[in-house]
Amino acid sequence: MCGIIARVGDGDALAELMTGLRNLEYRGYDSAGVAVRCEDGIDVCKREGETDVLDAALVERHLPGSVGIGHTRWSTHGPPSDANAHPHTDDDGRVAVVHNGIIRNYESLRRELREDGHRFTSETDTEVVPHLVARELDAGADAETAFRAATDRLEGSYALAMVVADEDAVYATRHGSPLVLGLGDDANYLASDVPAFLEFTDRVVYLEDDDVVVLDDAGYRITTTAGDPVDREAETVDWAAGDAQKGVYSHFMRKEIDEQPTSLRQTIEGRTDSTGTVLDAFPPGSLASIENVVFVACGTSYHAAMYGSTLLRRRGVPATAMRANEFAHDPMPMSDRTLVIAVTQSGETADTLASLRVANESPASTLAVTNVVGSTAAREADDAMFIRAGPEVGVAATKTFSSQVAALALLADRFEEDGAGIEFGREPRSKQATARASTTDGGVDAGTIRSLPDDVETVVNDGRAARLAKQYADADSYFFIGRGVGYPVALEGALKFKEITYEHAEGFAAGELKHGPLALVTPSTVIVAVFTGQDDDRTLHNVREAQSRGAPIIGVGPESATEIRDAVDEYLPIPDTDPELAGMLANVHLQLLAYHAAEIRDRAIDKPRNLAKSVTVE
Ligand code: G6P
Repeated sequence: MCGIIARVGDGDALAELMTGLRNLEYRGYDSAGVAVRCEDGIDVCKREGETDVLDAALVERHLPGSVGIGHTRWSTHGPPSDANAHPHTDDDGRVAVVHNGIIRNYESLRRELREDGHRFTSETDTEVVPHLVARELDAGADAETAFRAATDRLEGSYALAMVVADEDAVYATRHGSPLVLGLGDDANYLASDVPAFLEFTDRVVYLEDDDVVVLDDAGYRITTTAGDPVDREAETVDWAAGDAQKGVYSHFMRKEIDEQPTSLRQTIEGRTDSTGTVLDAFPPGSLASIENVVFVACGTSYHAAMYGSTLLRRRGVPATAMRANEFAHDPMPMSDRTLVIAVTQSGETADTLASLRVANESPASTLAVTNVVGSTAAREADDAMFIRAGPEVGVAATKTFSSQVAALALLADRFEEDGAGIEFGREPRSKQATARASTTDGGVDAGTIRSLPDDVETVVNDGRAARLAKQYADADSYFFIGRGVGYPVALEGALKFKEITYEHAEGFAAGELKHGPLALVTPSTVIVAVFTGQDDDRTLHNVREAQSRGAPIIGVGPESATEIRDAVDEYLPIPDTDPELAGMLANVHLQLLAYHAAEIRDRAIDKPRNLAKSVTVE
């Protein structure tokens, strides 16, 4: 949702700004631009399109200078174009600004500035900022005072970085949008996210809302909006620069699918032992008073949240997953025995943060399950559980889904051990445990969770999805169905498929197919059915209903399920495991199916059209 970068230090800024922009492209790729402080002012170069287009423009126009800002855009106000690309400047080109977020009162500010004689050249909300700053400069303010006065007028969310024509400095602030400071040996950086500058430094300072930062020759200074100094601790991030690079892979998505055994090991490491689940943040008994759980999340994280809520309900804890964009305006009633869990890879999704803030205002306690240490969600929730998946760059989330599910499975076991929830709900759970015991070796125990990375590796190494993607490439629609934990996996399979192939794909609860969607099923509808080892006979009934309308069926399920294998047209096997974890394994096949289907169609797999990885506007 727009990425910004700034750099002040020794040597030329441009190459590092461009590296930063390439690393931030997952946040938007409608246009890109840079502004560098040069000898006689500010040089700006910006282009519609991906950073490659900007790169090409810069071949002919090197911008010398050691101080600069850059931006990669996901359009909100005004379509992608050179004019709407950032950085934006004032009439005289004395001030250049990059922005991530939305300035809600931009129309009234524009009117006011126009009346003062300012001319606008773009349709963006951002352009008011350099004009506001310029007006203050005209009135005699210095750059820092002008920046503070300008941002004081803004309503909405923003991370802003600014350069002015006559100073080797960058001024920046954040309010509701992320901004991280990177401390290098020869230069300091500001960016929307750590991977932007991870190649240059791993020492970071996570900024808080309304911090004002000045980067100059003397280093960095952080103050409040009132100008009082603020002390923020520097931390070292444990992500390696290579983690956020493609390496030998042609797509980040494929790299991140393949990384799942490793990322899952990281998620699980130290969190289980022979006695069960070990969660430092949640010692035994800490969840005992929780009566109900509400998950809030968006996109893929919402599907992981649905998965987690199913696991909790089976353990007697009333739990539901709500889409964060709904919860924020129509919240669930909450008490001091409610736990609201925000599941968010980035920890910066605006809809999820809005929900978290609603929950924080209520008597409920809150928990963020996130991948990003120092993210807004991690800082604003009462507690945080990190999924430790490492940086994910592909817009389509893959390894973080698996790690979210694994983290929530561990958390679910702590809930169970603590006896949280209500007695009534626990009865069916024991029935399920019996059902499970008859299909597998036992329930989800620490050992089964520990075998997940190896099981995922088996699926990752299975080449069958590539063949099926080709074989069924001409279908009109792809329906994904599942029940229990297979239901959120069906939704996730369909989401992945549609977002990177641009084909029509929908996910349904298997039992729901007959209540409407079956009307759409023809021999050109591929049905992808998820089986987990639990209630598979029912899902098989639903499959047969579609099969009798001529639909080809791809089954994904336990290796040993011969009846299913015989019933379907194609079968993608997963290692036999606990049914509660089987869904996550099946999902890896669905990731591969989507990936290969998109590859055949030559889609922009890592940067699907109109989407962004981190959506920081509501
Ligand atoms: C965007 C991304 C999705 C992601 C969702 C939630 O829509 O394209 O891949 O699942 O945001 O992001 P979060 O960072 O909160 O998990």
